[in-house]
Amino acid sequence: MKNFNDSGSGGTPDNLVEAISELKRQKNAVILAHYYQESEIQDIADYIGDSLGLAQEAAKTDADIIVFAGVVFMAETAKILNPTRKVLLPDVEAGCSLADNCPADRFREFVEAHPDHTVITYVNCSAEVKALSDILCTSSNAVKIIESVPKDKPIIFAPDKHLGRYLIKETGRDLVLWDGSCIVHEQFDHKKIVRLKARHPEAKVIAHPECPEAILNEADHIGSTSSLLNYVKSSSDSSFIVVTESGIIHQMQKACPDKTFHPAPPDNGCSCNECPFMKLNTMEKLYRCLRDEAPEMDVAPEIIKRALVPLERMLELS
Ligand code: 13P
Ligand code: SF4
Repeated sequence: MKNFNDSGSGGTPDNLVEAISELKRQKNAVILAHYYQESEIQDIADYIGDSLGLAQEAAKTDADIIVFAGVVFMAETAKILNPTRKVLLPDVEAGCSLADNCPADRFREFVEAHPDHTVITYVNCSAEVKALSDILCTSSNAVKIIESVPKDKPIIFAPDKHLGRYLIKETGRDLVLWDGSCIVHEQFDHKKIVRLKARHPEAKVIAHPECPEAILNEADHIGSTSSLLNYVKSSSDSSFIVVTESGIIHQMQKACPDKTFHPAPPDNGCSCNECPFMKLNTMEKLYRCLRDEAPEMDVAPEIIKRALVPLERMLELS
Protein backbone atom coordinates (compact mmCIF):
# COMPACT_ATOMS: atom_id res chain seq x y z
CA MET A 1 0.00 0.00 0.00
CA LYS A 2 1.46 3.34 -1.06
CA ASN A 3 2.04 5.92 1.70
CA PHE A 4 1.60 9.59 1.04
CA ASN A 5 3.68 12.34 2.53
CA ASP A 6 1.46 13.90 5.20
CA SER A 7 3.64 16.99 5.40
CA GLY A 8 0.91 19.32 4.09
CA SER A 9 -0.93 21.57 6.54
CA GLY A 10 -3.34 19.85 8.95
CA GLY A 11 -1.98 16.34 8.26
CA THR A 12 -3.13 16.33 4.63
CA PRO A 13 -0.79 15.35 1.77
CA ASP A 14 0.70 18.02 -0.47
CA ASN A 15 -0.73 16.39 -3.59
CA LEU A 16 -4.39 15.87 -2.78
CA VAL A 17 -5.35 14.83 -6.30
CA GLU A 18 -2.84 11.99 -6.26
CA ALA A 19 -3.70 10.95 -2.68
CA ILE A 20 -7.46 10.90 -3.34
CA SER A 21 -7.00 8.91 -6.58
CA GLU A 22 -4.84 6.34 -4.77
CA LEU A 23 -7.30 5.94 -1.86
CA LYS A 24 -10.14 5.59 -4.33
CA ARG A 25 -8.31 2.80 -6.13
CA GLN A 26 -7.27 0.99 -2.92
CA LYS A 27 -10.78 1.08 -1.47
CA ASN A 28 -12.79 0.50 -4.66
CA ALA A 29 -14.57 3.81 -4.08
CA VAL A 30 -16.46 6.01 -6.51
CA ILE A 31 -16.79 9.79 -6.24
CA LEU A 32 -20.12 11.23 -7.38
CA ALA A 33 -20.17 15.03 -7.58
CA HIS A 34 -22.86 17.62 -8.25
CA TYR A 35 -22.22 20.47 -10.70
CA TYR A 36 -22.27 22.97 -7.82
CA GLN A 37 -19.13 21.52 -6.22
CA GLU A 38 -15.86 23.46 -6.42
CA SER A 39 -13.98 22.93 -9.72
CA GLU A 40 -11.21 20.71 -8.27
CA ILE A 41 -13.78 18.30 -6.83
CA GLN A 42 -15.62 18.18 -10.17
CA ASP A 43 -12.31 17.40 -11.90
CA ILE A 44 -11.49 14.43 -9.66
CA ALA A 45 -15.02 12.93 -9.65
CA ASP A 46 -15.86 9.69 -11.48
CA TYR A 47 -19.27 11.08 -12.36
CA ILE A 48 -20.60 14.65 -12.37
CA GLY A 49 -24.29 15.27 -12.79
CA ASP A 50 -27.60 16.76 -11.76
CA SER A 51 -29.72 15.24 -8.97
CA LEU A 52 -31.37 12.75 -11.30
CA GLY A 53 -28.15 11.66 -13.00
CA LEU A 54 -26.44 11.23 -9.64
CA ALA A 55 -29.32 9.11 -8.28
CA GLN A 56 -29.26 6.97 -11.45
CA GLU A 57 -25.50 6.53 -11.12
CA ALA A 58 -25.81 5.65 -7.42
CA ALA A 59 -28.41 3.02 -8.36
CA LYS A 60 -26.05 1.22 -10.73
CA THR A 61 -22.64 1.48 -9.07
CA ASP A 62 -20.81 -1.64 -7.90
CA ALA A 63 -18.21 0.29 -5.86
CA ASP A 64 -17.77 -0.69 -2.20
CA ILE A 65 -17.76 2.95 -1.09
CA ILE A 66 -19.72 5.86 -2.54
CA VAL A 67 -18.30 9.28 -1.72
CA PHE A 68 -21.00 11.85 -2.36
CA ALA A 69 -19.62 15.30 -3.10
CA GLY A 70 -22.93 17.08 -2.78
CA VAL A 71 -25.40 17.75 0.04
CA VAL A 72 -27.06 15.53 2.65
CA PHE A 73 -30.30 14.84 0.74
CA MET A 74 -28.27 13.55 -2.24
CA ALA A 75 -26.09 11.27 -0.07
CA GLU A 76 -29.21 10.00 1.72
CA THR A 77 -30.73 9.16 -1.66
CA ALA A 78 -27.60 7.15 -2.52
CA LYS A 79 -27.86 5.34 0.85
CA ILE A 80 -31.55 4.51 0.29
CA LEU A 81 -30.57 2.94 -3.04
CA ASN A 82 -27.51 1.18 -1.53
CA PRO A 83 -28.34 0.22 2.07
CA THR A 84 -25.47 -2.30 2.29
CA ARG A 85 -22.79 -0.01 0.89
CA LYS A 86 -20.84 2.67 2.72
CA VAL A 87 -21.96 6.16 1.65
CA LEU A 88 -19.67 9.00 2.74
CA LEU A 89 -20.24 12.76 2.64
CA PRO A 90 -17.19 15.05 3.14
CA ASP A 91 -19.15 17.46 5.39
CA VAL A 92 -22.36 16.37 7.12
CA GLU A 93 -23.31 20.02 7.68
CA ALA A 94 -23.93 20.31 3.92
CA GLY A 95 -27.70 20.71 4.19
CA CYS A 96 -30.17 22.45 1.87
CA SER A 97 -32.64 25.24 2.70
CA LEU A 98 -35.44 23.33 0.95
CA ALA A 99 -34.87 20.16 2.99
CA ASP A 100 -34.24 22.05 6.22
CA ASN A 101 -37.50 24.02 5.97
CA CYS A 102 -39.68 20.97 5.44
CA PRO A 103 -39.54 19.02 8.73
CA ALA A 104 -41.15 15.58 8.64
CA ASP A 105 -43.67 16.26 11.47
CA ARG A 106 -45.05 19.38 9.75
CA PHE A 107 -44.99 17.67 6.39
CA ARG A 108 -47.02 14.75 7.79
CA GLU A 109 -49.69 17.24 9.03
CA PHE A 110 -49.72 18.88 5.57
CA VAL A 111 -50.24 15.50 3.89
CA GLU A 112 -52.97 14.53 6.38
CA ALA A 113 -54.74 17.85 5.77
CA HIS A 114 -55.03 16.91 2.07
CA PRO A 115 -56.42 13.36 1.99
CA ASP A 116 -56.83 11.79 -1.48
CA HIS A 117 -54.00 13.92 -2.89
CA THR A 118 -51.05 12.28 -4.63
CA VAL A 119 -47.90 13.45 -2.82
CA ILE A 120 -45.16 14.42 -5.28
CA THR A 121 -41.99 15.54 -3.56
CA TYR A 122 -38.87 17.16 -4.98
CA VAL A 123 -35.80 15.07 -4.01
CA ASN A 124 -34.44 18.12 -2.14
CA CYS A 125 -35.97 16.86 1.12
CA SER A 126 -35.04 14.59 4.03
CA ALA A 127 -35.26 10.78 3.89
CA GLU A 128 -38.20 10.99 6.37
CA VAL A 129 -40.12 13.32 4.03
CA LYS A 130 -39.35 11.00 1.10
CA ALA A 131 -40.84 8.16 3.16
CA LEU A 132 -44.13 10.15 3.41
CA SER A 133 -44.33 10.69 -0.37
CA ASP A 134 -46.00 8.81 -3.24
CA ILE A 135 -43.51 9.74 -5.98
CA LEU A 136 -40.30 11.77 -5.95
CA CYS A 137 -39.08 14.00 -8.74
CA THR A 138 -36.14 16.21 -9.70
CA SER A 139 -36.18 19.34 -11.85
CA SER A 140 -35.31 17.12 -14.86
CA ASN A 141 -38.32 14.86 -14.69
CA ALA A 142 -40.93 16.83 -12.67
CA VAL A 143 -43.22 17.56 -15.67
CA LYS A 144 -43.20 13.89 -16.70
CA ILE A 145 -43.89 12.71 -13.13
CA ILE A 146 -46.83 15.11 -12.72
CA GLU A 147 -48.23 14.06 -16.10
CA SER A 148 -48.07 10.40 -14.99
CA VAL A 149 -50.78 11.12 -12.40
CA PRO A 150 -54.39 10.86 -13.71
CA LYS A 151 -55.87 14.32 -14.47
CA ASP A 152 -58.71 13.95 -11.96
CA LYS A 153 -56.33 13.21 -9.08
CA PRO A 154 -55.34 16.26 -6.96
CA ILE A 155 -51.62 16.69 -6.21
CA ILE A 156 -49.54 18.07 -3.34
CA PHE A 157 -46.14 19.38 -4.45
CA ALA A 158 -43.36 20.08 -1.94
CA PRO A 159 -41.08 21.64 -0.82
CA ASP A 160 -40.16 24.26 -3.52
CA LYS A 161 -42.92 26.79 -4.22
CA HIS A 162 -41.05 28.40 -7.15
CA LEU A 163 -40.51 25.09 -8.92
CA GLY A 164 -44.13 24.28 -8.03
CA ARG A 165 -45.43 27.49 -9.66
CA TYR A 166 -43.33 26.79 -12.76
CA LEU A 167 -44.83 23.26 -12.92
CA ILE A 168 -48.39 24.61 -12.58
CA LYS A 169 -47.67 26.77 -15.65
CA GLU A 170 -46.02 23.95 -17.59
CA THR A 171 -48.56 21.20 -16.86
CA GLY A 172 -51.78 23.20 -16.37
CA ARG A 173 -52.35 21.20 -13.14
CA ASP A 174 -53.57 22.81 -9.94
CA LEU A 175 -50.88 21.80 -7.42
CA VAL A 176 -51.16 22.41 -3.67
CA LEU A 177 -47.76 23.90 -2.78
CA TRP A 178 -45.58 23.73 0.32
CA ASP A 179 -44.11 27.18 1.12
CA GLY A 180 -40.38 26.48 0.70
CA SER A 181 -37.59 27.94 -1.41
CA CYS A 182 -33.90 27.66 -2.23
CA ILE A 183 -31.87 30.44 -0.58
CA VAL A 184 -29.52 30.53 -3.57
CA HIS A 185 -32.05 30.79 -6.42
CA GLU A 186 -34.34 33.10 -4.44
CA GLN A 187 -31.53 35.61 -4.04
CA PHE A 188 -30.97 36.44 -7.70
CA ASP A 189 -31.64 40.12 -8.32
CA HIS A 190 -34.20 40.72 -11.07
CA LYS A 191 -33.13 44.35 -11.73
CA LYS A 192 -29.45 43.39 -12.01
CA ILE A 193 -30.32 40.59 -14.44
CA VAL A 194 -32.32 43.00 -16.60
CA ARG A 195 -29.34 45.40 -16.59
CA LEU A 196 -26.97 42.53 -17.48
CA LYS A 197 -29.27 41.61 -20.40
CA ALA A 198 -29.17 45.23 -21.61
CA ARG A 199 -25.36 45.21 -21.47
CA HIS A 200 -25.18 41.87 -23.34
CA PRO A 201 -28.15 41.87 -25.73
CA GLU A 202 -26.64 38.96 -27.66
CA ALA A 203 -26.62 36.71 -24.55
CA LYS A 204 -29.24 34.01 -23.99
CA VAL A 205 -30.61 33.82 -20.43
CA ILE A 206 -30.66 30.29 -19.00
CA ALA A 207 -32.24 29.67 -15.58
CA HIS A 208 -32.95 26.89 -13.09
CA PRO A 209 -36.68 26.44 -12.27
CA GLU A 210 -35.95 27.03 -8.56
CA CYS A 211 -35.78 30.76 -9.47
CA PRO A 212 -38.79 33.01 -8.71
CA GLU A 213 -41.30 33.60 -11.52
CA ALA A 214 -40.14 37.16 -12.41
CA ILE A 215 -36.67 35.80 -13.15
CA LEU A 216 -37.96 32.80 -15.11
CA ASN A 217 -39.94 35.27 -17.26
CA GLU A 218 -36.59 36.69 -18.46
CA ALA A 219 -35.24 33.27 -19.49
CA ASP A 220 -34.76 31.86 -23.00
CA HIS A 221 -34.28 28.37 -21.55
CA ILE A 222 -35.35 26.89 -18.19
CA GLY A 223 -34.10 23.53 -16.94
CA SER A 224 -32.14 21.41 -14.50
CA THR A 225 -28.38 21.83 -14.25
CA SER A 226 -27.83 19.09 -16.87
CA SER A 227 -30.42 20.65 -19.14
CA LEU A 228 -28.69 24.06 -18.90
CA LEU A 229 -25.35 22.46 -19.72
CA ASN A 230 -26.78 20.56 -22.70
CA TYR A 231 -28.47 23.74 -23.94
CA VAL A 232 -25.19 25.72 -24.08
CA LYS A 233 -23.40 22.77 -25.71
CA SER A 234 -25.92 22.42 -28.52
CA SER A 235 -26.75 26.11 -28.98
CA SER A 236 -25.43 28.11 -31.94
CA ASP A 237 -25.30 31.16 -29.62
CA SER A 238 -22.03 32.02 -27.97
CA SER A 239 -22.94 34.14 -24.95
CA PHE A 240 -25.08 33.19 -21.94
CA ILE A 241 -26.33 34.72 -18.69
CA VAL A 242 -26.37 31.81 -16.25
CA VAL A 243 -29.02 32.06 -13.53
CA THR A 244 -28.12 29.22 -11.22
CA GLU A 245 -25.32 28.36 -8.79
CA SER A 246 -22.07 29.41 -10.44
CA GLY A 247 -20.33 26.00 -10.01
CA ILE A 248 -21.99 24.76 -13.23
CA ILE A 249 -20.02 27.34 -15.24
CA HIS A 250 -16.88 25.19 -14.78
CA GLN A 251 -18.39 22.41 -16.94
CA MET A 252 -19.80 24.95 -19.42
CA GLN A 253 -16.37 26.51 -19.91
CA LYS A 254 -14.71 23.09 -20.26
CA ALA A 255 -17.24 21.96 -22.86
CA CYS A 256 -17.38 25.28 -24.73
CA PRO A 257 -14.08 27.16 -24.24
CA ASP A 258 -14.94 29.67 -26.98
CA LYS A 259 -18.28 30.70 -25.48
CA THR A 260 -18.85 33.40 -22.83
CA PHE A 261 -20.73 32.84 -19.59
CA HIS A 262 -21.96 35.69 -17.39
CA PRO A 263 -22.95 34.55 -13.88
CA ALA A 264 -26.19 36.23 -12.79
CA PRO A 265 -25.67 38.41 -9.71
CA PRO A 266 -27.53 37.93 -6.43
CA ASP A 267 -29.10 40.64 -4.26
CA ASN A 268 -25.86 41.40 -2.37
CA GLY A 269 -22.37 42.68 -3.20
CA CYS A 270 -21.28 39.43 -4.91
CA SER A 271 -20.84 39.02 -8.64
CA CYS A 272 -22.04 35.40 -8.71
CA ASN A 273 -24.12 33.12 -6.52
CA GLU A 274 -22.74 30.17 -4.57
CA CYS A 275 -24.59 27.60 -2.45
CA PRO A 276 -23.09 27.83 1.06
CA PHE A 277 -24.00 24.18 1.71
CA MET A 278 -22.47 22.76 -1.47
CA LYS A 279 -19.32 24.79 -0.93
CA LEU A 280 -18.73 23.27 2.54
CA ASN A 281 -17.10 20.32 0.77
CA THR A 282 -13.41 20.83 0.04
CA MET A 283 -10.61 18.69 -1.41
CA GLU A 284 -9.10 18.35 2.10
CA LYS A 285 -12.42 17.09 3.53
CA LEU A 286 -12.83 14.76 0.56
CA TYR A 287 -9.38 13.29 1.22
CA ARG A 288 -10.00 12.88 4.98
CA CYS A 289 -13.41 11.31 4.46
CA LEU A 290 -11.96 8.70 2.09
CA ARG A 291 -8.99 8.07 4.39
CA ASP A 292 -11.09 7.73 7.58
CA GLU A 293 -14.24 6.32 5.89
CA ALA A 294 -16.22 8.93 7.80
CA PRO A 295 -18.56 10.76 8.13
CA GLU A 296 -20.87 8.00 6.95
CA MET A 297 -24.55 8.49 6.00
CA ASP A 298 -26.89 6.59 8.23
CA VAL A 299 -30.59 6.20 7.42
CA ALA A 300 -32.89 4.07 9.61
CA PRO A 301 -33.87 0.76 7.91
CA GLU A 302 -37.60 1.50 8.30
CA ILE A 303 -37.19 4.88 6.56
CA ILE A 304 -35.09 3.28 3.80
CA LYS A 305 -37.83 0.71 3.18
CA ARG A 306 -40.56 3.35 2.84
CA ALA A 307 -38.49 5.98 0.99
CA LEU A 308 -37.32 3.42 -1.59
CA VAL A 309 -40.88 3.02 -2.96
CA PRO A 310 -41.36 6.64 -4.23
CA LEU A 311 -37.70 6.79 -5.28
CA GLU A 312 -37.99 3.66 -7.42
CA ARG A 313 -41.24 4.97 -8.91
CA MET A 314 -39.37 8.09 -9.98
CA LEU A 315 -36.48 6.11 -11.48
CA GLU A 316 -38.88 3.86 -13.41
CA LEU A 317 -40.68 6.90 -14.85
CA SER A 318 -37.44 8.73 -15.79
P1 13P B 1 -30.49 19.76 -10.29
O1 13P B 1 -31.36 18.58 -10.10
O2 13P B 1 -30.87 20.60 -11.45
O3 13P B 1 -29.05 19.36 -10.32
O4 13P B 1 -30.68 20.73 -9.03
C1 13P B 1 -30.22 20.40 -7.77
C2 13P B 1 -30.23 21.55 -6.88
O5 13P B 1 -29.98 21.47 -5.71
C3 13P B 1 -30.54 22.81 -7.46
O6 13P B 1 -30.40 23.79 -6.52
FE1 SF4 C 1 -30.41 23.36 -1.69
FE2 SF4 C 1 -30.45 25.57 -3.12
FE3 SF4 C 1 -28.12 24.62 -2.31
FE4 SF4 C 1 -29.52 23.34 -4.23
S1 SF4 C 1 -28.60 25.37 -4.37
S2 SF4 C 1 -28.54 22.41 -2.45
S3 SF4 C 1 -31.62 23.72 -3.54
S4 SF4 C 1 -29.78 25.39 -1.00
